[in-house]
Amino acid sequence: MSGVVVALDGPSGSGKSTVGRHLATTFHLACLDTGAMFRAVAWGCLADGVDLSDHAATERHARDLDITMGLDPDDARVWVREHDITTEIRTDRITTAVTEVATNLGVRAELKRRQRAIIEAERTGGYSGGHGILAEGRDITTVVAPDADVRILLVAGEEARLRRRALETLGRDDAEALEATRALVVTRDQRDSTVSQFLTPAEGVTPLDSSTLSLAETLEAATALVTAGLERL
Ligand code: DC
Repeated sequence: MSGVVVALDGPSGSGKSTVGRHLATTFHLACLDTGAMFRAVAWGCLADGVDLSDHAATERHARDLDITMGLDPDDARVWVREHDITTEIRTDRITTAVTEVATNLGVRAELKRRQRAIIEAERTGGYSGGHGILAEGRDITTVVAPDADVRILLVAGEEARLRRRALETLGRDDAEALEATRALVVTRDQRDSTVSQFLTPAEGVTPLDSSTLSLAETLEAATALVTAGLERL
């Protein structure tokens, strides 16, 4: 029997990572944060002095880079070579640099290849022991795993996403905090959406709008979608 594949996409601040981890734990799946892979490439290039605006050099470096993705939903660690970069890839330096990497089509092709290999390994064995995998990102439902057993696009209105990100990164959601967050959330999503379409669901992808839902309600709704999707198999 083959393990299941759950694909979860959504923009920044949609709650994708939290929902992804919850679903992976609930359904005993490995959890792959594909955004962290783009961040790892950005980290590796900066560490090795590769100019990110040189797309050919960045692509070559991405192909050679030794990246290890931890797949434990409760402790998703990322390594480049022997460096545990789990915390460092969340800094503003990497968050700002990663857009250049994510819009590099050669890097996208390389990471798609790696992501598909991880997903295939989890169908039959790997970290999950063959239970399967939840992969989250921007193009999982459409490009990386369009044949996934369950495909969900988590969306939320701009205001709700800004508010969540501001609370998460600055600990407050007053007008000034929302403005400071806007550049990192909305502007980045606009730039990222030039290379992958993740603001409206593709055919066969179930949208879940969390704008007016609490976290508990969002988790419950997402769990119900996966349960229903797996029952149909
Ligand atoms: O979700 P995140 O902020 O960690 O993603 C980091 C960057 O990678 C962001 O610019 C979006 C991009 N990304 C992507 O283009 N495709 C994915 N599957 C995942 C992330």
